[in-house]
Amino acid sequence: MLPMSRRNALLLGGLGTAAIAAGGAGLWWTVSSRFSTVAGGDFTDPKQLRSSNGRLQVRLEASAGSVQLGGQQASALGYNGGIPGPTLRLRGGDAFAVELVNSMDVPTNLHVHGLHVSPQGNGDNVFNVVEPGHSFRYEYRLPADHPPGVYWYHPHHHGMVADQIFAGLFGAIIVEDAQPVDVSRERVMVVSDITLDGSGTVAGPSPMDRMLGREGELVLVNGQRNPKLSARPGERERWRIVNTCVARYLQLRLDGQQMQLLGMDSGRFPTPRNADEVLLAPGNRADVLVTAVEGDATLSAVYYNRGSMAGMMGPAGPAPNSAQGTGDLVLATLSVTGAPAAPPPAVPSRTAAADLRTAAVAARRQLTFAVGGMGMGMGMSFTINGREFNASRTDTTVAAQTVEEWTLINPSPMDHPFHLHVWPMQIIEEQSQAPGQPVWRDVVNIPANGQVRVRIHFKDFTGRSVYHCHILDHEDQGMMGVIEVR
Ligand code: C2O
Ligand code: CU
Ligand code: CU
Repeated sequence: MLPMSRRNALLLGGLGTAAIAAGGAGLWWTVSSRFSTVAGGDFTDPKQLRSSNGRLQVRLEASAGSVQLGGQQASALGYNGGIPGPTLRLRGGDAFAVELVNSMDVPTNLHVHGLHVSPQGNGDNVFNVVEPGHSFRYEYRLPADHPPGVYWYHPHHHGMVADQIFAGLFGAIIVEDAQPVDVSRERVMVVSDITLDGSGTVAGPSPMDRMLGREGELVLVNGQRNPKLSARPGERERWRIVNTCVARYLQLRLDGQQMQLLGMDSGRFPTPRNADEVLLAPGNRADVLVTAVEGDATLSAVYYNRGSMAGMMGPAGPAPNSAQGTGDLVLATLSVTGAPAAPPPAVPSRTAAADLRTAAVAARRQLTFAVGGMGMGMGMSFTINGREFNASRTDTTVAAQTVEEWTLINPSPMDHPFHLHVWPMQIIEEQSQAPGQPVWRDVVNIPANGQVRVRIHFKDFTGRSVYHCHILDHEDQGMMGVIEVR
């Protein structure tokens, strides 16, 4: 008999509270402090730390604490006592340093997701381990021409990534535009999900969660449930949206208002593009403009089918993961009233993104993402090219300064969002369709039973780093490889 998650227990019904509490395999943290976050109500931006004179120096302390999350008291994890951690605002050319203090009772480390910085030494090096009670000083330098956009930071200690992010360790990073876009206000929206048991403890994953990737019952924006935003008609807002969820895809809609996309992951489009829906796989970010029109609107995440393992479970397998429920989720509510604002000035256009479609390709590779094994909890394997992650093995060796083409192949019945550190990817072909314009991502979704072709320019930096599935339960179970650029 499989261990029963609280959710499964709830679904089976007929079980008393005691049985449910006993069935929850909660993660246990030593709660040392009380975090200060905002409870419900009005939308609140995370605290911001901004570079000045080309430098930013921050101290990030990862610790357990007691916190209000979506109206519930929770024992969770946070950076500097908050969920999310502070937003770091940087500019191209900046030097920045993070003193990471580990006040937890488990090892951790830090990754700056999407930033184009060196993976070596005390840079964006995920092979570093910061033991409990220790600290580590990370130092990064952004190239002067670093693309503007929305990035984020989170732990990356193999085997614990999903647990630590799920419990609250994440924060946003913004790289500012050289030429600013005129807006009435900017908002950072860090979307996360978490499941709490009756005592406010973060629920541990069931075997099904580990296989499909855990989706939390509470979906939060800056640690708040359905925060209220208000604006006047005609005001233009810029929303920086980060999907920090371990496995949840966010198919975003803002019915009643028009979203315009300024960019996805890194960089900005030459001009804003109207978008009715924006799909953020785990790890993806969107840079969105909203020019408010009178009325109420909800930012919602509508159902996205990311597949299942039903076909692998046999006829006696359990029901599909109910955490993937098909209902729409309301993330935030925007109400627009009051005296109309003056129309905002035009958005300055940007030069087109780099385009590798006609580049000379130095090497072609195939990466195959497979889920194997007999069934839940019975030796499931998560592999890339048949191998599970091994930090001391280098899977892919690349010549610096070259362009490579990778075909990402997913023969499994669920999507895998593929992420490469340091070097962004241009999508060349997706399910046999070639995009009409350059599309750049650092997380590329590979649909179930599908494939995607990307090109990567291994410019600027050398060193060892990783690529992996950003369903972090998959990553923690081995769907990750080591790349060395030299
Ligand atoms: Cu956001 Cu290697 O991860
Ligand atoms: Cu990353
Ligand atoms: Cu995966």
